[in-house]
Amino acid sequence: MKKILILPGDGIGPEIIAQARRVLDVLRKDGLAVETTEAPLGGAAYDQYGSPYPEFTQKLAREADAVLLGAVGGPQYDTLDRPLRPERGLLAIRKDLNLFANLRPAILYPELANASTLKPEVVSGLDILIVRELTGDIYFGQPRGVHVNEAGEREGFNTMRYAESEIRRIAHVAFQAAQKRNKKLCSVDKANVLETTEFWKEIVTEVAKEYPDVQLTHMYVDNAAMQLVRNPKQFDVMVTGNIFGDILSDEASMLTGSIGMLPSASLDQNKKGLYEPSHGSAPDIAGKNLANPLATILSLAMLVRYSLNDEAAATRIENAVKKVLADGLRTGDIYEEGTRKVSCSEMGDAVVAAL
Ligand code: NAI
Ligand code: MG
Repeated sequence: MKKILILPGDGIGPEIIAQARRVLDVLRKDGLAVETTEAPLGGAAYDQYGSPYPEFTQKLAREADAVLLGAVGGPQYDTLDRPLRPERGLLAIRKDLNLFANLRPAILYPELANASTLKPEVVSGLDILIVRELTGDIYFGQPRGVHVNEAGEREGFNTMRYAESEIRRIAHVAFQAAQKRNKKLCSVDKANVLETTEFWKEIVTEVAKEYPDVQLTHMYVDNAAMQLVRNPKQFDVMVTGNIFGDILSDEASMLTGSIGMLPSASLDQNKKGLYEPSHGSAPDIAGKNLANPLATILSLAMLVRYSLNDEAAATRIENAVKKVLADGLRTGDIYEEGTRKVSCSEMGDAVVAAL
């Protein structure tokens, strides 16, 4: 039986996780074979164990097949030493589980087309997936630092590096994701200027031979940034390195304009993953039953798809979310005139009913 570890975290975390749990309970009742455990992470873990990623949580995280996280952080922890802060718990668990593949879908449901700052016709129906490499590239490459150079001047330097194995494994994740979607993959590089990314392009092209059903294209990152706002619907899956992916995934998520709707997944080699909404712990609305639980519920759908390999159950969750949006239910963050404003738990009620 697969094991899911649930980490509610801080702020709105417990509220949105409670709704995702109800969705999971329906799936279990209908035969999904999983068992769940729960542990604290972030501020909640600091309060209980004096550490944002305590051994108790670490042990369960290592044993689990998948982890579902709410969010961490809050103003009451801002005065703690950096190593004790909630956000450190998040970095620690990502590193501990070697989660090198970050999957960020940017989906704009037709009903929410007005939430975007772009024209509705440009973004309505947008459904793209950015696959970002998360543990390599210029963010981790050595050497790095600030020193005095030969001319006696101070200079800063970082090193862009990718090992062949690192490129191969993220390419496989991206091709497999594309196979489950529209079989189109765009690899983003800056091969005209940077040797590391020229090498990236070469390896991705090699890996492509194992996926003849997926159509691979290449694009320079500056053009990709432009195309994402000019005509984002030309893309299906995009794969790129850590730094380009950081920027492009934030750009893509904002095309949808709705922070409460965006899930994410971070996977390791064996499809073990950490799944979480893209937003934070929203302390301004915490404890008020106002938060949008849909990003967390959609993160659960990704968990079911990627770590449990149950495409049918994942689609079932996503269709339930589409149904409640089509029925006009909206939490405050996505509310507009003519729709029905609901609370966090009422949104959960509606998703469970739609399931
Ligand atoms: P935030 O994403 O928590 O909130 C930004 C704005 O969006 C707020 O007005 C909030 O009310 C709203 N919002 C966010 N999620 C929502 C939801 N599900 N439904 C309705 N409205 C929602 O970002 P902020 O304010 O910068 O950070 C707050 C705390 O969260 C900080 O401690 C920060 O470090 C932490 N954080 C944690 C993350 C994580 O756990 N992965 C990611 C980002 C921030
Ligand atoms: Mg970023």
